[in-house]
Amino acid sequence: MCGIIGYTGYSEARGILLKGLKVLEYRGYDSAGIAVYHPSFKECLVTKCAGRVENLMEKTADVKGSTGIGHTRWATHGGVCDDNSHPHKFGSVTVVHNGIIENYEALRGALGVADKLKSQTDSEVVAALIDRSFKGDPEKAIIDSVKKLTGTFALGIMFDEIPNTIFAVRNVSPIVCCQNNDGVYIASDIMAIGEYSEDYFVLPELTVAKITKDGYTLSDFKGNEVQPDMLKLDWDIKNSGKGSFPFFMEKEIMEQPEVIKKTIDGRISDGLPCFEKDSIDDSLFENCKNISVIACGTAMHAGLVGKSLIENICSIPVSVHMASEYIYCNPIIDENTVVICVSQSGETIDSLEALKYAKKNGAKTLSIVNVRGSSIARESDNVIYTDAGPEIAVASTKAYTTQVSVFYLLTAKLAYIKGALNLEGVTNFINQLKKVPDAVREVLERRGEIHHLSKSMLTADDTFMIGRGLDYPALLEASLKLKEISYIHCEAFASGELKHGTIALITEKTPVIALVTQQKLVSKQVSNIREVESRGAKVISFVRTDLENDDIECSFTLPCLEDEFMPIPAVVSLQLLAYYVSSDKGLDVDKPRNLAKVVTVE
Ligand code: M6R
Repeated sequence: MCGIIGYTGYSEARGILLKGLKVLEYRGYDSAGIAVYHPSFKECLVTKCAGRVENLMEKTADVKGSTGIGHTRWATHGGVCDDNSHPHKFGSVTVVHNGIIENYEALRGALGVADKLKSQTDSEVVAALIDRSFKGDPEKAIIDSVKKLTGTFALGIMFDEIPNTIFAVRNVSPIVCCQNNDGVYIASDIMAIGEYSEDYFVLPELTVAKITKDGYTLSDFKGNEVQPDMLKLDWDIKNSGKGSFPFFMEKEIMEQPEVIKKTIDGRISDGLPCFEKDSIDDSLFENCKNISVIACGTAMHAGLVGKSLIENICSIPVSVHMASEYIYCNPIIDENTVVICVSQSGETIDSLEALKYAKKNGAKTLSIVNVRGSSIARESDNVIYTDAGPEIAVASTKAYTTQVSVFYLLTAKLAYIKGALNLEGVTNFINQLKKVPDAVREVLERRGEIHHLSKSMLTADDTFMIGRGLDYPALLEASLKLKEISYIHCEAFASGELKHGTIALITEKTPVIALVTQQKLVSKQVSNIREVESRGAKVISFVRTDLENDDIECSFTLPCLEDEFMPIPAVVSLQLLAYYVSSDKGLDVDKPRNLAKVVTVE
């Protein structure tokens, strides 16, 4: 969602801000803007517009100055238009804001500024509030104002009276900061500024940062100096471009064998699962009697595969919750509950709030996160970082397969500790897991076949995906991929459930994708395929090689792994299907309409 960038230093700010905004595009946005302190006019000049960063580039061609803040906006309060874009300037105060100010209407009334505001946003009210509070002491004005805000915020703030200085403060929504010889940089995520330094910090909550070209000082609301916890960026940001691929999504799909292997290999020692590098003590698993997974979207689908694995193999009950519903459903938590929060970005607000709730209610928490130092990672008692590297395409691919890989490792660990698998059993399980990257590689090598199959989907309006057992959660993820990037309506069904209503929707115009990877369920799945074929559906089947038989007309054969390990290669094949449908329809695969990569509003 919204993105923030800020720079003060020895170079022209415009180029740095626009470059940062280009990087932040992946989060999803509908308008963009920058404010740069003009040394001759002695004030911040704002340029902003609805639409792409490219529009802003043209409009800002003459902007001069070495200190500025910029923003990409994803509309929440007020429609998509120039006036609602950030930065917002009120009086002598200019702000960029991520998050939501819940009491902005009340504040607007109390300030009596309704007739002076130019936008419908909650953010402009913050600029007005700080401006009205400013009597020469910027930190005091910020603190006094922020204390009146209800909601979430990351704010970059500039005062006309204080040249070449940026202030930042946040509650929940993140701000990161780094420095090099050329100046100091802030952003809403490290992707935007990682190229300037590998050492960075996350601004602690409710701490005011004062940033000048030679450094920064942080202070809490009582004026005490705060030392940041420095982090090291372990992603190769310089190689995080698209390379020779037309879209990030394709690049990220192709990276999967490597990142799955990296995620697994670092957590196997002497053939056994080992979370030493994550500093997770075995006692977490020994004391665990039940598990709740909280996550959204794709990450939740990874949790559903995890549930099936852990319940089947370890006999430990696992509930999977949509994070956005969790805190409202009176979840059952006791001291033996381990809550696993799964998130690529580590910033999804619903997941973060659910995690905080679980922690407050006594659960032990473990997060499976991709972005180091993210809010969810910092909030958790234990963290396992997936080694997916930066994921830029809105549609999650390699984050999902690495999350599922972590669930295999957790299953093996729990099974061994709880005695559900003996040494031989767990060794066999890990040996199977090690075969997954090669199975994925095989699917990728045969992507031309999937591209060919995808052609028959191009004109479809509605599709269904059917599968049984572990194929069902795999298809939930596959159908989300198809929906979000190709805009084709698609629903995944447990095959046996179809005839309880949904089969009424099947016609000769509805392609049905059938997944057949679970040995013990083949004959039942074949019957369900027959049922939809009899209603005229054109079935495209993805079948595990060794399960092919005369009863199934196979469209694509999947590599052969044991049942438990099939979700990853199966989903990868369907990621490719979705990708080809979207790119052949000429859509913007990486930035599907209405979607944001990082969902920071509830
Ligand atoms: O960053 P997170 O993993 O917490 O994001 C959760 C969902 O928003 C995300 O998985 C979303 O469903 C995917 N972009 C879909 O491909």
